[in-house]
Amino acid sequence: MRILSGVKCSGHPHVGNYFGAIRQFIDYQDRGDDGFYFIANLHSLDQIRNAEEMRRLSLRVAIDYLALGLDPEKVTLFMQSDIPEVSELTWILGSVTPMGLLQRGHSYKDALAKNEAVDWGRFSYPVLMAADILLYHSDLVPVGKDQKQHIEFTRDIAIKFNSTYCKDYDPQTHEGGALRVPDGFFHASGANVPGTDGRKMSKSYNNAIELFAPDKAVKKSIMGVVTDSTALEDPKDPETCNVFGLLKLFCSEDELKGIEDQYRAGGVGYGDFKKKLLEKFHETFDQARAKHEELSNNLDHVYGVLDKGAEKARVVAREVLESVRDACGLNYRG
Ligand code: ADP
Ligand code: TRP
Repeated sequence: MRILSGVKCSGHPHVGNYFGAIRQFIDYQDRGDDGFYFIANLHSLDQIRNAEEMRRLSLRVAIDYLALGLDPEKVTLFMQSDIPEVSELTWILGSVTPMGLLQRGHSYKDALAKNEAVDWGRFSYPVLMAADILLYHSDLVPVGKDQKQHIEFTRDIAIKFNSTYCKDYDPQTHEGGALRVPDGFFHASGANVPGTDGRKMSKSYNNAIELFAPDKAVKKSIMGVVTDSTALEDPKDPETCNVFGLLKLFCSEDELKGIEDQYRAGGVGYGDFKKKLLEKFHETFDQARAKHEELSNNLDHVYGVLDKGAEKARVVAREVLESVRDACGLNYRG
């Protein structure tokens, strides 16, 4: 079973990203699936317009994932732009992708609604994403729910290519095509992790607890989680408390039961629950935080991991691209 997912080079990873997405990658790895994970730096070109920032942010994604437990001995971790085949496949797929399909794209439509200037890269983002997925014969693509439309487009594009060029292709069973038609898979616990203000944790809301922030900043975020003004001695409702919402992610069932009893009994203040949360945060992430620092100071190791990943990914990419080139006649020497 080939699992593939891409990660854009955006800001610092936070507790929501970890429990909503990153942890699932680690679980698949430990289950023994054949994981292909890449840093979507080509996709990030539409937001990052500074070379130094692009280098720094793209490398940092690799460091984040390695620190959090992705094991390059078990999965293939690579940089999207190290695989030139993906750009060629993007062009080929673009030639069978109707304009109407891309015009329905949520992200394109949002940009138009906001009167933002849209360049071709943003418009054709879904074609590059389809190429990412189809180039490695992926079976499953774990993503957040916001990516559902992109997965549907990928399936549509694969079916269109196969129906256009592969005479043995059966659109019912998807057998006989040059491209494997993948399934989307939405993170099971893609649950909403609450941010420090109770809204969904997101870097755009400024309510995130960052995984790799300095100790002081982590403490400041956690001690700043918004609570109501119930007095220390009074009973409290865990279900409506943001601190409890976060503790749920970190604690075992038994531990949580004990904390819940403390909430309902009264006599323990929110400050103490926050201290507990801080303790659990460090217990969970300190090893990754130390590894993060170590990797940040040993970029040669990170480059080595990415080189090895690209080498493995290219073996698959070349083979799939060859069959695509055969199917549509770009391999012209009979
Ligand atoms: P952000 O909202 O901070 O910009 P992204 O959109 O970059 O986060 O999300 C990256 C991944 O993390 C996605 O798979 C998304 O579903 C997951 N994720 C982000 N925030 C949360 C959250 N608060 N709860 C659960 N999952 C989240
Ligand atoms: N579009 C995805 C996001 O914004 C990132 C991505 C690029 C991706 N290519 C992919 C995800 C291929 C899964 C498969 O999160």
